[in-house]
Amino acid sequence: MTRIGLIGCGNISRFHITGYELAGAPIIHVCDVRPEAAQAVADRYGARVSTDYRALLDDPEVDLVSVTALSSAHREICLAALDAGKAVICEKTLTDTADASADVYRAAAAGTFFATAYMKRFFPAAQKAKELLTDMGQIISIYARSWQPSDLWNTPPSQILSNPPSRLRLHYGGGVLPCGGSHILDLIHWFAGPPVSLCGQVYVPEGLDFDIQANALLWLEDGGIVHFETCWHPLAYAGYERNGWDERLEVNTTQGRLDLYTVKWDEPERNGALLVHQDGKSGQVTEYRYRAVNPFHLEIAENLRRFEAGEPGFPSAWDGYVVDEIIAHIYASAEQGRVVPMRWRAKESA
Ligand SMILES: NC(=O)c1ccc[n+]([C@@H]2O[C@H](COP(=O)([O-])OP(=O)(O)OC[C@H]3O[C@@H](n4cnc5c(N)ncnc54)[C@H](O)[C@@H]3O)[C@@H](O)[C@H]2O)c1
Repeated sequence: MTRIGLIGCGNISRFHITGYELAGAPIIHVCDVRPEAAQAVADRYGARVSTDYRALLDDPEVDLVSVTALSSAHREICLAALDAGKAVICEKTLTDTADASADVYRAAAAGTFFATAYMKRFFPAAQKAKELLTDMGQIISIYARSWQPSDLWNTPPSQILSNPPSRLRLHYGGGVLPCGGSHILDLIHWFAGPPVSLCGQVYVPEGLDFDIQANALLWLEDGGIVHFETCWHPLAYAGYERNGWDERLEVNTTQGRLDLYTVKWDEPERNGALLVHQDGKSGQVTEYRYRAVNPFHLEIAENLRRFEAGEPGFPSAWDGYVVDEIIAHIYASAEQGRVVPMRWRAKESA
């Protein structure tokens, strides 16, 4: 039985916690710099409590750690966890900069179990899309959108956001691009491979220090093109669920089209994600309507299975690094006002 340590007891940790609970993996040690946050989780599971992650990593009974602290702390914690020989499931984004993510990828490449928690790969609809794409020929184009509702366009931002450096800039490395857009960049990378070059545009409103809109064209190795946009937008009823959550990918290939619609990230048990497949030859349209599931729970269960079976984590540290490198290139391209070739500061080892 895999014994779990949890580092970071904030917002996102609840999905990891319930994932372990459902999988029957005991949470035996929890850590947060806020002792009351760690204690609240520890009380539920009879776990040990630390306010310093190094104490948790020194615990010989911990086999695997979930890193659910802020992205700005991921590099330091992940490197220490790998150094201590602990298996790691790290929340996305892998870190808050491409340099830091390259460091984590290099350390993880030595072979200790490591997964970057891009949970949207675990929607059954996303997995079906990946399976269908193996038999759909070459990708011609992808239209990818991650729009999330926000009042930032119409209402002055709260002090916590408008006093630079904002919490978003400090702890997530930016605004909607790392926070929301990263998920869709991960799906693009999973479906189509990494881009070879890109052209990015980023909108940072006056008085703020983070992006609320980012767009990019990304060129794929075999000539396909990706139109990517992410936005904290004001349209409260937009999207598949009519709740402002408007996230979709249209993938056009030489043999057909896929349309994937995801559901609101923190209420995934209300609706199932939807996949529509149009066969290019016959014109037949097939809708894959799956029951609503929580992809965080599927992600935890699958990575526990992989760890116990001696298989690598999924998505990998490499996958996490790739997304952060694409984000860094979108920001660089926007700043320079030109197309930038992808320059990989880490190379994938076989
Ligand atoms: N998968 C998703 O859709 C999704 C959604 C939201 C957030 N996230 C990711 O989850 C991570 C956490 O975000 P959050 O929204 O839960 O933030 P949060 O602020 O709610 O929680 C972070 C917790 O980590 C603690 N912490 C910070 N530094 C620490 C350290 N050095 N050691 C121990 N604890 C520390 C904080 O005290 C806090 O309790 C981020 O990387 C974020 O990008 C992912």
